[in-house]
Amino acid sequence: MAYETIKTETRGAVILVTLNRPKALNALNRQLIAELSDALDKYEADPDLRCMIITGSEKAFAAGADIKEMQPYDSVTAYVENLLGEWDRIPRTRKPIIAAVAGYALGGGCELAMMCDFIIAADTAKFGQPEINLGVMPGGGGTQRLTRFVGKSKAMDMCLTGRMMDADEAERSGLVSRVVPADELLGTAFEAADKIADMSLPAVMMTKEAVNRAYETTMAEGILFERRLFHSAFGTEDQSEGMQAFIDKRSANFQNR
Ligand code: CAA
Repeated sequence: MAYETIKTETRGAVILVTLNRPKALNALNRQLIAELSDALDKYEADPDLRCMIITGSEKAFAAGADIKEMQPYDSVTAYVENLLGEWDRIPRTRKPIIAAVAGYALGGGCELAMMCDFIIAADTAKFGQPEINLGVMPGGGGTQRLTRFVGKSKAMDMCLTGRMMDADEAERSGLVSRVVPADELLGTAFEAADKIADMSLPAVMMTKEAVNRAYETTMAEGILFERRLFHSAFGTEDQSEGMQAFIDKRSANFQNR
């Protein structure tokens, strides 16, 4: 598939996906989500790729789902065609994804960033769920994920008033993991991605699965799930190598098996 709305670039074991609809501030239309889904399929199928970064432009990570594409829908076509249903491919990804966000991450843009495993923000980033201004509400998981990230009060404030949060507030609220100067955004994201790419892949995937389970289940079930994955990590060669390397005071050479 030749991409028109995203660009991809591989650096070592890291694949960078740049959302690329500059004239529409990277508004997320069906084509872009289909291309991103295709890139995710290829990423997951390629054993040499260990981490993905999704980024946008300096001005916008993404200014939301494409309003012009959605405007003609009525509730029957939205339901029958399962509008935004295809977005579910993104959180199904089992390998790690980092969102590197500069500028606007609004509506579906904020939702896409939250579907990634963590968000590194430039100091220019602005997050919001402004769908209320359009006479609708978030439809890509915003009411659920934002509430889990920042708590009920802030999520209600953002979703009901449509106000934006700047990068500092987003960091204070737990929406983003770190804030860096805009010109260091990609460098910082690559540094984190390279670090993850050097780890044992099964350990990375198990960790992602276990952290995500915290959102889906009770504490007791989540801890049991974590314990079982922890035990199964002892079936990998990487466990034996990683622990031996510590004892030998050398760096580990993971085989990802
Ligand atoms: N969909 C379609 N086109 C969009 C868009 C969107 N979400 N956001 C921006 N654009 C387009 C504009 O229409 C404009 O196109 P034209 O040049 O053809 O007119 C172009 O991008 C540049 O935008 P602006 O001129 O508006 O740029 P600005 O700097 O003045 O303002 C902004 C920037 C504040 C982000 C403003 O563009 C804006 O408010 N965008 C919409 C934000 C929004 O409501 N997002 C939620 C969408 S609904 C959703 O996402 C549902 C969901 O839950 C998944």
